[in-house]
Amino acid sequence: MSSNLQLLPLHENQYFQNNVIELLNDEWQQSKTIRMRRLERSCNDFPISYILINNNNQLIGYCYVDRLLDEEQSVIVESVCIQRTLRGNGYGRILMKLLEDQLHQRKPKIEFIYLTTTDKRQFYEKCGYEETNPRVRLNISSKLFNGNEQILKNLLANQIQPTTDSHVILQKGSTIQRIQTIWMKKKI
Ligand SMILES: CC(C)(COP(=O)(O)OP(=O)(O)OC[C@H]1O[C@@H](n2cnc3c(N)ncnc32)[C@H](O)[C@@H]1OP(=O)(O)O)[C@@H](O)C(=O)NCCC(=O)NCCS
Repeated sequence: MSSNLQLLPLHENQYFQNNVIELLNDEWQQSKTIRMRRLERSCNDFPISYILINNNNQLIGYCYVDRLLDEEQSVIVESVCIQRTLRGNGYGRILMKLLEDQLHQRKPKIEFIYLTTTDKRQFYEKCGYEETNPRVRLNISSKLFNGNEQILKNLLANQIQPTTDSHVILQKGSTIQRIQTIWMKKKI
């Protein structure tokens, strides 16, 4: 099946942008403007939005990859998503494998993929990811770093030990829940 599928950078296939927004908003509601802003930042030098498409040019899935400021050989993967009606058919596993293959071939070399999850730990374990210590989550493309990269790198070098208590706060209906986030990692 994977031979019928391609993982392509969204910025080289921009006509998929609206399909990606629909795919993501079907899972995580957010304004189209905010989504588009993030998608439009995709470029060869990170962050990169990737799309998984089949040979009929249909969008199967999506993920977003960014570098981590304090580890140049590492990236963080976010927003991994397969079309709702196609889940459970092995596409998620294929997306992760194609992503790892692409990142592995990059120069300079990417050695580790990090991600966080609240409830998909088993899926990522099946893809070979293992739980790791929570870490400071700093995406290199953050506006905070404009002109301040070295200062922040120095700060991180002397960084406060990250706490093992890592949570996200999710609003579900009228209830606010504190849900544990797990950090996972894979050497590629
Ligand atoms: C998580 C997601 C990407 C998985 O994609 P998928 O195509 O359904 O997964 P696959 O069919 O490739 O599954 C691969 C393996 O993981 C397992 N798996 C997948 N989702 C799982 C889940 N929610 N719980 C437990 N196991 C799961 C499958 O059973 C399969 O195991 P097997 O090979 O032993 O049969 C997809 O369900 C999705 O898009 N979910 C909504 C968005 C989301 O939550 N993304 C993750 C953000 S952290």
